Amino acid sequence: MRQSRRQTVARTAVPLTIPVALAALLAGSGTAVAATGGAPGAGDPYFPLSGNGGYHVEHYGLTLRYDTSTRHLDATAVLTARATQHLTRFDLDLKGLKVTGVSVGHTRAGFRRDGQELVVTPRRALHQGEQFRVTVTYQGTPKPVTDPDGSADGWIPTDDGAFVAGEPQGAMTWFPANSHPKDKSSYDITITVPQGRTAVSNGRLLSRRTAHGLTTFHWRQSEPMAAYLATATVGKFKVEQYTTRDGIRVYNAVDPREASAAAPVLKKLPSVLEWESKLFGPYPFRNAGSIVDKADVGYALETQSRPLYDSAPDLSTLVHENAHQWFGDSVSLTSWKDIWLNEGFATYAEWLYSEQHGGDSAQKTFDSLYARPASDGLWAFPPGNPGSGKNIFGTPVYARGAMTLHELRKAVGDPVFFRILRAWAGEHRGGHGTTAQFVRLAERESGKNLHPLFTSWLYTPGKPNSA
Ligand code: TRP
Ligand code: ZN
Repeated sequence: MRQSRRQTVARTAVPLTIPVALAALLAGSGTAVAATGGAPGAGDPYFPLSGNGGYHVEHYGLTLRYDTSTRHLDATAVLTARATQHLTRFDLDLKGLKVTGVSVGHTRAGFRRDGQELVVTPRRALHQGEQFRVTVTYQGTPKPVTDPDGSADGWIPTDDGAFVAGEPQGAMTWFPANSHPKDKSSYDITITVPQGRTAVSNGRLLSRRTAHGLTTFHWRQSEPMAAYLATATVGKFKVEQYTTRDGIRVYNAVDPREASAAAPVLKKLPSVLEWESKLFGPYPFRNAGSIVDKADVGYALETQSRPLYDSAPDLSTLVHENAHQWFGDSVSLTSWKDIWLNEGFATYAEWLYSEQHGGDSAQKTFDSLYARPASDGLWAFPPGNPGSGKNIFGTPVYARGAMTLHELRKAVGDPVFFRILRAWAGEHRGGHGTTAQFVRLAERESGKNLHPLFTSWLYTPGKPNSA
């Protein structure tokens, strides 16, 4: 309390540079105190405790040791972060596990657990703009979280390791994070597993060393990544590595029990990436690949630079997860409500792939969906406003989201439509995008008023009219 008052005084010394902050501080002494603790959430109405306020994580350095027989995880996380406000304390997201120590810089920090919040109080307050390093040591048996829709995500043990998929909330089951897609960071992930198991993560494999019956894999994801897209999947895998004609390094890890079913589909990865690059613009990362596990999870995930499948994927799924590399991974959400920007786009990529490879046209796919009666679940809610976290992976988000893009395509014509997709991926590459920004971009590229179309297809309950 005393410290925050002192900071308030210090700030008044430079009033001209921060008039808004100053006004807030002068509004009452309560405001000054509130402004010094980082918020426990990133402000997402669907997942209020996901992410945190008051700082941005620039880099995660995760060192994990996983014993596949006891399912015990022993880990250290070193976060390089920057304060976006004066901070006397801040939160990280971490669910379960036992924290054995937290330091800020070289100094031990105070910490307490409060549900999924790990509340850290550094010995001295951090000033706005200051870069700081947080080290958290922790251990235990990681368990998945159950999402509002009943599915499991996070660290999901398998018979030979773990399937690690963090969308939307699961990153906090295996590392302390600012776990909201608003915050993107680079990662170094080092995983030690029993010899004979493979640990696969995002980006590039920098090294692999075996000693004393343990193998350590060091992965680096240098392009910015949202926490939910990080993985550290462990299992017995057959590994294949090559470089595509475009210079993209591919690393595929496949559970041998899924290998024969996966092979013909994985063989198409370079041609799928090439096709998607023609449509959406250059592939956004230097690395690519696949993790084909055997797990009863019921979904695949677009883990950055290396999608994760719970069994051998079919070609559409491969197309879908790799389309997410542009839409969802490179261009990220700022709010889970905008999830159609991920799922509608990846689904529409499947329709386009089919259309351009001798299958049904997108129009035909659209028509067969549009024929569903008004009572069908497809029309249960509008995709731009799913209403809660329970609905973010519902049919309207995927199918009606893709139908929205098809309506846009019909309204503006093919050349403008594909220019819009490329402009979207290009202008927001490595960053974020909102639905409002997409609508504005589409209107700019087409010179048309598209508000009626998007209002009806994205935001109006019930079955919309089709042009
Ligand atoms: N985003 C995944 C996809 O490509 C789906 C997904 C991820 C999912 N996590 C989930 C679906 C949790 C249901 C529940 O479509
Ligand atoms: Zn998807």
